[in-house]
Amino acid sequence: MKRKIVFATSNPGKMREIREILGGEDFEILSMKEAGIDCDIIEDGQTFEENSLIKSREVAKYAKDAIVLADDSGLEIDALNKEPGVYSARYMGEDTSYDIKNANLIERLDGVAKEDRGARFVCAVSAVFPDGYEAVVRGTIEGYIGWEAQGQNGFGYDPIFYLWDKDVTTASLSPEEKNAISHRGQALRLIKKEILKHENISC
Ligand code: IMP
Repeated sequence: MKRKIVFATSNPGKMREIREILGGEDFEILSMKEAGIDCDIIEDGQTFEENSLIKSREVAKYAKDAIVLADDSGLEIDALNKEPGVYSARYMGEDTSYDIKNANLIERLDGVAKEDRGARFVCAVSAVFPDGYEAVVRGTIEGYIGWEAQGQNGFGYDPIFYLWDKDVTTASLSPEEKNAISHRGQALRLIKKEILKHENISC
């Protein structure tokens, strides 16, 4: 019988990505809704890891014998003291458009040279197992904040996040290209290893 995994998200894009990475013969991956779980979670942690664990621990209370996964991600800009960081979704208000948020970040970097515009997307993924065991991993992708938005794909801060080696934004990559190198893709592949190890499944 397949092992059940509940991914604590309501984002269809994240569900697709985790199914690509972890789905298959060993695991059945359910969203919170599919698992019949509905709970309000206050993400008041100081780090991506803390916020991810807050979510997976809370959902694990309702998930019976399933493994629960949760992620938390965001953008850190070095010249802005790692802002917006864990406040990435809430930066300038949840309802403010990313066109406005992105323009604001570019404006705040006025006069900053390319080499000092370093930034990274960070993603922490945690797993809580039915036996109480917990694992947390982190994936990152390094880049810099450009001077103008570029690209039509992706979401959030993708249009201003340029890759050092290609000088294009993650909004210019196809979903497959982005998943192959993204912070979330990396973290999901790392948590897969942790799950297989804890479940004694060889890869
Ligand atoms: P959450 O982890 O889904 O809460 O995402 C936090 C926020 O970080 C998002 O709302 C975006 O603002 C930002 N973010 C996280 N990952 C990405 C990404 O891959 N591209 C662009 N923005 C991202």
